[in-house]
Amino acid sequence: MMEESGGPNAGDLARVADVLRGAHAVVALTGAGISAESGVPTFRGAEGLWRTYRAEDLATPDAFRRDPRLVWEWYLWRRSRIAAARPNPGHLALARFETRLRQFTLLTQNVDGLHRQAGSRDPIELHGNIWRGRCTASGCVISRPPVADELMAATSGAPSDLPRCACGAVLRPDVVWFGEGLDPEKVDRAVAAVRRSKVMLVIGTSAIVYPVAAFPALARHGGATIVEINVADTPLTGDADVVLRGASGELLPALERLL
Ligand code: OAD
Repeated sequence: MMEESGGPNAGDLARVADVLRGAHAVVALTGAGISAESGVPTFRGAEGLWRTYRAEDLATPDAFRRDPRLVWEWYLWRRSRIAAARPNPGHLALARFETRLRQFTLLTQNVDGLHRQAGSRDPIELHGNIWRGRCTASGCVISRPPVADELMAATSGAPSDLPRCACGAVLRPDVVWFGEGLDPEKVDRAVAAVRRSKVMLVIGTSAIVYPVAAFPALARHGGATIVEINVADTPLTGDADVVLRGASGELLPALERLL
């Protein structure tokens, strides 16, 4: 493979593999880029969702109050894209890191569920999961409500046909919207893992949405080596100790082969 036989990343890959082997605790933080090779659209960049759609119309509590049907339709469209997607070699390599590395914690901003599908046992899904619904009255979470029923309900007419909890209240997607806080329990677990990490892999994220965007600096403050894996520069690039430039679906398996 290019990376193992002297490609542009060869030296850096070997260096990262060395650091990973010696590390007592490793954190990987992923963003939409890791799922790009599975065909799931990212948010920013030339083909990103936020080029075509306005976050304030679709991914805020106000947007849902104003037009829950529109918001549901958008999430159900995204679900249909994700349903057609399969984990790619990047997801699969990360799932195997769990058994190959000591104290490996996977943090993701993705809501697509592809890390679990790839075999990661306990990814901390900081922005929620698009396959779950949450009751707007009680907050109870419904795993995988039937998509076909919801789709029909969300597109068939009156607002009363919106997806509903057994208690009768409207369900919302169980994801974090702009202007909302993250689940404090998940943030606590994530921050604890970040603080104890000796290496942090930051993969396929533009690293600009807080609070998650603050995690690399927190890890660095604790002495961790920061490795960025991305096809392009991000605001984090200048602060990373090592930058592996390329597709995560190629670089992560190449890294795994060196462990
Ligand atoms: P973005 O769309 O902002 O960034 C995707 C990143 O992945 C970019 O830096 C790309 O360069 C990189 N990338 C694309 N393809 C790649 C590949 N094959 N291999 C490696 N890198 C690749 O997505 P996020 O950073 O995840 O939040 O966005 C963060 C949050 O903003 C999302 O969780 C979402 C969004 O608005 C909410 O909806 C609350």
